[in-house]
Amino acid sequence: MTTTTGIPAATGALGTARTRVEGRDKVTGAARYTGDIPLPELAHGWLVLSTVARGRVRSVESEAVLAMPGVLAVLHHQNAPRINLDYVGMIGRPDPIIGVFQQDRVPFRGWPVALVVAERPEQAREAAEQLVVHYDQEPHDVTFYAGHPGAYTPEDSPFGRAEETKGDVEAELAASAFVVDAEYTTPEEHHNPMEPHAATAHWDGGRLEVLDSNQGSTWVATELAQIFSLDPGSVRVRSEHVGGGFGSKTVRPTQVAAAMAATVLQRPVRVVMTRRQMFSAIGYRSPTAQRVRLGADASGKLRALDHRSECLTSTVHEFIERSASVGRVLYDAPAHHTSDRVVRLDVPTPTFMRGPGEAPGSFALECALDELAEKSGIDPIELRVRNEPDRGPISGLPFSSRNLVACMEEGSRRFGWADRDPRPGLRREGRWLLGTGMAAASFHSGVGPSTAAVTAEANGTFTVRINAADIGTGARTAIALVAADALGVDPERVRVVMADSDLGPAMFAGGSMGTRSWAWAVSMAVAELRERLALGGNIPPEGITARSDTSEAIGALAQKERHSFGAQFAEVAVDVTSGEVRVRRMLGIFAAGRIVNPLTARNQLVGGMIWGISMALHEEAIRDRASGGHVGPDLAGYHFAANADVPLVEADWVDDPDPDDPVGIKGVGEVGIVGAAAAIANAVWHATGVRHRHLPIRPDRVLSAGTNVPEHRPGA
Ligand code: MOS
Repeated sequence: MTTTTGIPAATGALGTARTRVEGRDKVTGAARYTGDIPLPELAHGWLVLSTVARGRVRSVESEAVLAMPGVLAVLHHQNAPRINLDYVGMIGRPDPIIGVFQQDRVPFRGWPVALVVAERPEQAREAAEQLVVHYDQEPHDVTFYAGHPGAYTPEDSPFGRAEETKGDVEAELAASAFVVDAEYTTPEEHHNPMEPHAATAHWDGGRLEVLDSNQGSTWVATELAQIFSLDPGSVRVRSEHVGGGFGSKTVRPTQVAAAMAATVLQRPVRVVMTRRQMFSAIGYRSPTAQRVRLGADASGKLRALDHRSECLTSTVHEFIERSASVGRVLYDAPAHHTSDRVVRLDVPTPTFMRGPGEAPGSFALECALDELAEKSGIDPIELRVRNEPDRGPISGLPFSSRNLVACMEEGSRRFGWADRDPRPGLRREGRWLLGTGMAAASFHSGVGPSTAAVTAEANGTFTVRINAADIGTGARTAIALVAADALGVDPERVRVVMADSDLGPAMFAGGSMGTRSWAWAVSMAVAELRERLALGGNIPPEGITARSDTSEAIGALAQKERHSFGAQFAEVAVDVTSGEVRVRRMLGIFAAGRIVNPLTARNQLVGGMIWGISMALHEEAIRDRASGGHVGPDLAGYHFAANADVPLVEADWVDDPDPDDPVGIKGVGEVGIVGAAAAIANAVWHATGVRHRHLPIRPDRVLSAGTNVPEHRPGA
């Protein structure tokens, strides 16, 4: 029997490789994404974004475009319905960008200033491009750099503390045998999922119905009810198939603008963003400037760890990229200081992007560890093993489980680390210098309250109902496996109904918390259902349904440091004549809790690692100081790793069930990107003897830095 604590007896389904249950629908086109769903009387809204980076909208000349074919309305700050932004939402106060058309102030280039609605999307687009908006422009500042005088220490928030200090960093550094003091930067990066942000809103019998592309319909429905001052039961949000989110698909201007226009026109309205609009209106990862100082004794044991990071946010909302937090989990030292500071600029508000905090933070910290390994002459893995904490370095809490050493050992064995000569610049193959590098990874394992219902149907099948979101991860399949395992039946007999706010509240697909949160609720409902089925008797035509709510169980969870861990390994080849860096192979070994579906879990981890390649070598959004906007805000101008850049990437895991989770899950969504860029940067150093501390490691940077290799090169 399944219980709500401890790991249920495996019945075979959990941990077996299953292709996505909706995979056939997706590849045949039967699966419909929000922008594809037909509705009678559907009108199309096109967002108009500001072309100045700071100022006020003086006038919107809507008359001319209202005369254009098919145009139904132009909404802007002077005529749009008033809405409510004075609430605390799922992650605090809302970003004012979702309060579209409420005032004339323009806080950055790409701020929504109008919505043109027409019968057809082409008509809406044509009219939106013709719409003349006059601005009173003001001088703007969009330039981020280390030590910006406007940087400040933000308030602590539920997402983390801005600063943590213990011990005397300066004294410990002064007493250290080896010291590293280095500055690292990461650029502005964008998630830009394949499916653009899209929402369709209409009123149906007094209810606001929204077909959306989001990471959590509970979140979106709850906030839309607040925004439009509606009873929560008067909003329904569905999000059946989602083509990627990565942190960007929360409440955005799409849903609010669509609902506003549907209210004004009293007919269904769809708003889909363009790729270029997504570069300013959905959030992104802030650039970072980070300084890491490490001090170690002669044995490599850390005496001081000091990680200071700066990031940016907009003038209208504070979002902190918590890069310094990763060191609060990975390494302890008698003197330990970590802080995140932020500067407000005339730019869009950044947001959560895969591995928020840990992804850029691990680049700096794990490169600094590699520099310490070089200085101390201690192998990078051995150095990390010697600095394994037995408790949370800052919290003092025990780890639920911490199998980082096992990841490094297994990775070392499979990657062939033992054969590595630590000296840089020794391996050469024609014009290519070869090197290998590694890095550690961690990402917090969280869980959010969820409700679920599981029905034993009269025909012998089971239906799971939960407001989960499958943003492309295979969540639907994972939920079916969890339910089948707990029920002791073949997964073919389980149907999953999800992504509908009418199913009741559930965790969103974010923070690597989705599968763990939903699995908890599903296994709890199944336990209840099994008890009722054990009473015997026939199943009535409407079936037998058991419901669960994990709020109480999650509230009672023991306070521990809960994280997924990993060890990343990379081999690179650097062409010293062109500056090109090629990743030749990558291996990631993770300790990420119980793996529900090896096929889709591997997708997640490999996807994260490929993003690490992209982060290390390609991704960088360039802001133009003069206009305040991007240079090349599209997927031609914004480079990212494509097929030809991606070599053999392997991800695997060690046994690591979370002892306090009913299913043993931790989460695999984000840990794959953590440390990946550092492993590559460390490999570039090993190849060339030159440290690259600024991402991306572009050919021009490699060329101008040159190499620092010994004259003697065996086999040259
Ligand atoms: Mo994730 S960045 O929490 O979707």
